[in-house]
Amino acid sequence: MKNFSDSIKYVGVDDSDLDIFEGQYDLPNGVTYNSYVIMDEKVAVLDTVDSRKVDDWMENLKKQLDGKAPDYLVVHHIEPDHAGGILAFVKAYPDATIVSSAKAFAMLPQFAPLPQAQKTLTVKEGDTLALGKHTLQFIGAPMVHWPEVLFSYEQSEKVLFSADAFGKFGVYDADPDDWACEARRYYFNIVGKYGNQVQAVLKKAAALDIKTICPLHGPVLAENLGYYIDKYNTWSSYTPEDKGVLIAFGTMHGNTAKAAEVLKQKLTAAGVEKVVVSDLVRDDMAEVIEDAFRYDRMVIMAPTYDAGLFPAMEDFLNHLKAKNYSNRKVGIVENGTWAPMAAKKMAEIVSTFKNVTLAETVVTIKSALNADSEAALDKLVAELA
Ligand code: FEO
Repeated sequence: MKNFSDSIKYVGVDDSDLDIFEGQYDLPNGVTYNSYVIMDEKVAVLDTVDSRKVDDWMENLKKQLDGKAPDYLVVHHIEPDHAGGILAFVKAYPDATIVSSAKAFAMLPQFAPLPQAQKTLTVKEGDTLALGKHTLQFIGAPMVHWPEVLFSYEQSEKVLFSADAFGKFGVYDADPDDWACEARRYYFNIVGKYGNQVQAVLKKAAALDIKTICPLHGPVLAENLGYYIDKYNTWSSYTPEDKGVLIAFGTMHGNTAKAAEVLKQKLTAAGVEKVVVSDLVRDDMAEVIEDAFRYDRMVIMAPTYDAGLFPAMEDFLNHLKAKNYSNRKVGIVENGTWAPMAAKKMAEIVSTFKNVTLAETVVTIKSALNADSEAALDKLVAELA
């Protein structure tokens, strides 16, 4: 839906070569860096792209401008995946005014020192920028997902420019029928810590009549907006999206993995709606984090290691803590051959999560599942099903 308007044009680029985003997230289908131009009496360019793709973006921009000089560059977010083209822009269009928040102008020199004579305009919540028929109204969106972030709302066409919010991984239209899968992985791993701030900006957006959402990643959203906004409401309020159990395990010699499969069969037989099993070493950690937030229950299963906790499990739980994992029920299964310690370590971290109930049954496997530990698994299943 790039071409949803006669005046608002898409000039973003796909990056299908980048393998890892933010130095840590797999990109099996690349990513988009979105940028838009509003063609009116005054011409405004909205955001730039990652430095990797500035040449392609400049080409798109010049084609769209067709010889016109832009009056403004509006910078909603200065993270380098969007601000990588600012210096190229000011070099090509030195008379344009850069429009952004005070916090953005404070931090921007760290990434892109503007020329001394550069015209700038600092805007804040409620300010407007008149372009002719089009008017941009600015909305503060701090910590969605950096402190300087602004959204803007174009009043005549009712378009919300939502910065990282409503973004997803994948090049444009990589999987048009399954927005939620890669949007959810993007949300929980990148924005997930800032649910309260997302809730705050959603409340502001609820007062607007929005026809189109233009994020900085992923497709322009122009239909069925209630679906996307509902997803964001669920995710940002830390409410489980679906009923089901994520079993996240680490395994050294395969015995904990076998126990995870047995647990899956037992939970399924007990009528649990959906059971997902993930190996914390072999599977994409970001996917497992996404599933932890998606479902209302989770079982964590790990061996004892170096008289402590299996490192991948420790890493996983620390990620969940950083992303404010809350409002769910968790079961613990540990494995240990001579001095099991994993359950204690897992429980210590889980006890720091907000509003997370621990199942009373803690299962200890001594090296491999036997009749005793299988009976304990049955007790855990009875608590979780
Ligand atoms: Fe897409 Fe927060 O940068």
